[in-house]
Amino acid sequence: MKKLLLAAFCSLMILSSVQAQSYFQDGLSAAFHKERRQALRSLMPANSVAFIFTNPVKNRSNDVDFIYHPNTDFFYLTGFREPNSVLVIFSEMRDFGDFSANEILYVQARDPQAEQWNGKRLGVEGVKELLGFDQVFLNTEFGKNPALDLQSSSKILSFNLGKNQEESSSNASLIAMINDFKSDVQYPEELSEVTMEMYELIRATEVENSANVAQVIGRYQRVHPEVQNDPILQDFVQADSPEKRMALKKQIPDPKLDITTLPKIMDQLREVKSAEEISLLTKAIKISAVGQIEVMKAAAVGMSEREIQGIHEFIYKRYGAEGLGYPSIVGGGNNGCILHYIENDLKSVDQRLLLMDLGAEWRGYTADVTRTIPISGTFNQEEKAIYELVSKAQEAGIALCKAGTDFSEIGHVTRQIINEGLAELGIIKRGERHNYFPHGTSHHLGLDVHDRGGYGKLKEGMVLTVEPGIYIPEGSNCDKKWWGIAVRIEDDILVTAAGPLNLSADAPRTVAAIEEMMRIPSILQNWALPEID
Ligand code: GLY
Ligand code: MN
Ligand code: MN
Repeated sequence: MKKLLLAAFCSLMILSSVQAQSYFQDGLSAAFHKERRQALRSLMPANSVAFIFTNPVKNRSNDVDFIYHPNTDFFYLTGFREPNSVLVIFSEMRDFGDFSANEILYVQARDPQAEQWNGKRLGVEGVKELLGFDQVFLNTEFGKNPALDLQSSSKILSFNLGKNQEESSSNASLIAMINDFKSDVQYPEELSEVTMEMYELIRATEVENSANVAQVIGRYQRVHPEVQNDPILQDFVQADSPEKRMALKKQIPDPKLDITTLPKIMDQLREVKSAEEISLLTKAIKISAVGQIEVMKAAAVGMSEREIQGIHEFIYKRYGAEGLGYPSIVGGGNNGCILHYIENDLKSVDQRLLLMDLGAEWRGYTADVTRTIPISGTFNQEEKAIYELVSKAQEAGIALCKAGTDFSEIGHVTRQIINEGLAELGIIKRGERHNYFPHGTSHHLGLDVHDRGGYGKLKEGMVLTVEPGIYIPEGSNCDKKWWGIAVRIEDDILVTAAGPLNLSADAPRTVAAIEEMMRIPSILQNWALPEID
């Protein structure tokens, strides 16, 4: 709703357009977040403190902001969804004179006027009561409160805050807190995570592997200018003896501020999902599968990409999902070849494949499901050949989703099947390099669509996508009959003790099952709206 009387009462413009998000009553429990904070503490170095700022509000235009989304690490640890907050965690209990604490949350104040426009805020007392924190302060206290007395900490853990600030009045108190923090820790103007990673690598280097480490850093230098420009790293790569490298190791700075440990700990915490998380993820995924099913029934030649997107998203809302995990991708024909095609503005999808990659967000957790269907209801010969090749690769990938498999193995096996199949179909020559499968096969899924997590061995409780694809844009170097065919099949797989569990299996996946679903009539087919010129 447009704010009434905006022009007449300039003071109203000062009212923050921050949206109250409070917390999910039917989402993760306060006990979950509390246990996760304890797990973080147990992985922090001794006598350290971690600062986890939430996301800024992002401005869309003029006095309208984008719908607010909290930082997912912050949300994972707190369950709190209001902006302008920071969580401070200490590795051990600290005595602050008036109180002792091993965690402090700073939040925005209650504000009746702002709440009239944008909804209720929890405030200090609400957060204590609902989220189970003992020590909660107003964000205006951040710089003054002893939590920022950093002298007593040997390490200060933070994410890279380099590019995290948005100049807007809605973010004033977040920016003030970040600036206080930066000035207290003497945060450098330029701080590169990758440079810090290289420093750590050198710190862990022994004489016998120093040449290998120099090679690895050399490879990073080729793609990261900041690594190339760092004098210590330059010297390390160019050093011609292990002795010279060991001497350089002594020059690696060891600042109190550490921006590489916290992301690694959060990867470790978030990669394996608890039963509570799995049930929320399952709900998001099942809702998204219903979206795919209903579109399969309703799809007809001549529908627009946007209308199809609308059906998926209407179904998410009908179930009460709060949003989307990422912008919906609905690409007809050649548009399916654009991997993150989000314009979705083709007015009439005709006789071609339709690639639909969408995910509902349910209580913070997002699905990521792709189906590719023939808009006419039947695959033609070429479409079917490509579809079945992708499907074969996907089946092999899903079968590998067992504890102990190397993440990279899934990509390796699916790619091999696709390469082999493309050669058999005559689309490439055997062994020829090509760009018809230009993306990875799998990623973690959770609070983020590309969720945090390591990419080593699979563990029970991980949820990952398996999403091979083949995309043959118009003008490709192959027979014209393949042009404009784009197929991705993407499912969300839970690694269990009993093997892979496909959480998105409700959405038909085989050629036969899709064609059968598309024969079922949809209530939407008889829904005529008035013509508007
Ligand atoms: N929807 C983004 C992805 O599949 O990774
Ligand atoms: Mn994906
Ligand atoms: Mn996807």
